[in-house]
Amino acid sequence: MNVEAEKRLVGDRAAELVDDGMRVGLGTGSTVAYLLEAIARRHPKALFVATSPATAYAARALGIRVESFDELDELDLAIDGADQIVATGWLVKGGGGAHTREKIVAHAAHRFVVIADSTKMVDQIRPPIPLELSSFGIRATLRHLHPTALRDVAPSPDGGLIADYHGEVVVASDTARWLSSTPGVVEHGLFSPELVSEIIIATGRTVSSTRLEGGS
Ligand code: 5RP
Repeated sequence: MNVEAEKRLVGDRAAELVDDGMRVGLGTGSTVAYLLEAIARRHPKALFVATSPATAYAARALGIRVESFDELDELDLAIDGADQIVATGWLVKGGGGAHTREKIVAHAAHRFVVIADSTKMVDQIRPPIPLELSSFGIRATLRHLHPTALRDVAPSPDGGLIADYHGEVVVASDTARWLSSTPGVVEHGLFSPELVSEIIIATGRTVSSTRLEGGS
């Protein structure tokens, strides 16, 4: 079974978690695209917010009503993909440069569910780690974050520059702390296990779900 089929399987499975009346955060990426299709088919009477303009656009094109996230102070559920997943629950996100909004949405959700194909499981986090950086003083920030390179993409919807940290990640929590404490870093793509409630992975035709302690 190919990767696209695995993404579809986890998207379908996660769509079953969405019930009428829920407030739901929608992630970003190609795995989430399958989730959106499955939600559109089921058509639950839920309230949705999107982590990126791309997701908002795709959802609306499928008939899913997406609301602004400015009026809500919490979510029942958020579902998103990931670039790397360690069994302990550490994630790397931001392949699509949407990790700042994705982290805000994940943190606001009582239950954050990660969906992925089997290629995303890793034994050890590897570079690159996506970053969103303030444009003010960007050269100084890049010097402190060496080896980091700006990505040749548009700024985030919030005006931040998307970059990638290419240094080794020996202990994820240490790297996450260092990145968070570096002035100029708006957000980084390391998501700690405390954020994660459940990881749903497809391997071939088998879908497995692992619950973690995380989620607010
Ligand atoms: C976007 C993300 C995505 O969730 C991550 O890149 C996985 O994407 P895909 O499902 O296309 O493999 O973090 O910022």
